[in-house]
Amino acid sequence: MSREIISVDVVYGADYGDGGKGKVSSYLSSFKSKAAKIFGADDKHYNFVARWGGGQNAGHTVFVGGKKYKTHMVPSGVFHGVTSLIGPGCVVNLELLKEEFSYLRESGFDPNLIKISPSTHIVTAEHIDEDRKNLAKKLGTTSKGIAPAYSDKYARTGIQFKDVAALDSFWKKHLFDGRLYGNILCEGAQGFFLDINWGNYPYVTSSETLPYAACSIGFSPKKIKNIYAVAKIYDTRSGEDPDFPETLFDNPELLSIADAGQEYGTTTGRRRKVNYLNLDRLIFALNTAGGNHLIISKCDILEAVNIYKLFYKNDLLTFESIDLMKNFILARLSVECPELERIYYSSSTDVVEGLTI
Ligand code: IMP
Repeated sequence: MSREIISVDVVYGADYGDGGKGKVSSYLSSFKSKAAKIFGADDKHYNFVARWGGGQNAGHTVFVGGKKYKTHMVPSGVFHGVTSLIGPGCVVNLELLKEEFSYLRESGFDPNLIKISPSTHIVTAEHIDEDRKNLAKKLGTTSKGIAPAYSDKYARTGIQFKDVAALDSFWKKHLFDGRLYGNILCEGAQGFFLDINWGNYPYVTSSETLPYAACSIGFSPKKIKNIYAVAKIYDTRSGEDPDFPETLFDNPELLSIADAGQEYGTTTGRRRKVNYLNLDRLIFALNTAGGNHLIISKCDILEAVNIYKLFYKNDLLTFESIDLMKNFILARLSVECPELERIYYSSSTDVVEGLTI
């Protein structure tokens, strides 16, 4: 096999996070390579699955073989035997990562597949203390030390992973000292409206969540072939945000969606605020960040509660059925998002119905 990079696909959230990126990345990671399909082998299509930003603030829920797994830092390739890279744009708490390794090992997965870039930054106990004391209440952060760790990184006072790996034989084994090659899947964290440049500042996270930032993993933007944007069919928000006021908790319809969708943060356990899908914002995210595929997940939740509403051009529109709502979204996006080639409506926890590579 060629040791060059062949192509790159990117999965990102076109929302406020929690839209199902973990499911999409895991599903894509599970695809076999063409040769493996012909010869009955198990080699996967992707040679690497890599995270480009954020840290343990992320919460990915992934179903593999009918079982549910919750992770925070490790890319989903690890569930399918694919080398999984934590990229240089991430910040990582090594103690929590060790816990994730134990969890993976106990669940029958191989943590040795996890590699960490030399210049990934380390989240320290001091970063977590500062986040808890100064930011958690004010901004509703996840208290994982993210903003203080990125502050140190950009002030050029941080600690990089290579400094730890030089002194510690356990971590040395996880240092990524090779080169990327083959097919790469980039797994986003958080979502468009939490991005440091595009979100509702300061109610954002401290990293770049748009697909352009995936290139920080180490490839030319020209290598990107597919951009998979992911969002739910209703909006959710964990943490503070004036665009998601507390009064949303007073709306019984929205509460019923929240209950049916089990809308609690994977990292914090906090109840997420729920609102009807804002199609104007989704269109803006797609046209700003890109995306030739869009996966709209949790369609079954609206069916369970029989509520089909969305905001479009600042009006709240109501539909008689999920099919009418889906057709409306499809019709608007096919006109307003010229880059988009295909929309997938998903109601499954582990597959994206109709998506193949
Ligand atoms: P931080 O990233 O912990 O600093 O939190 C900043 C904001 O981003 C808060 O509103 C968090 O709730 C939100 N946030 C961070 N990571 C995630 C995520 O993975 N899903 C949803 N919200 C997140």
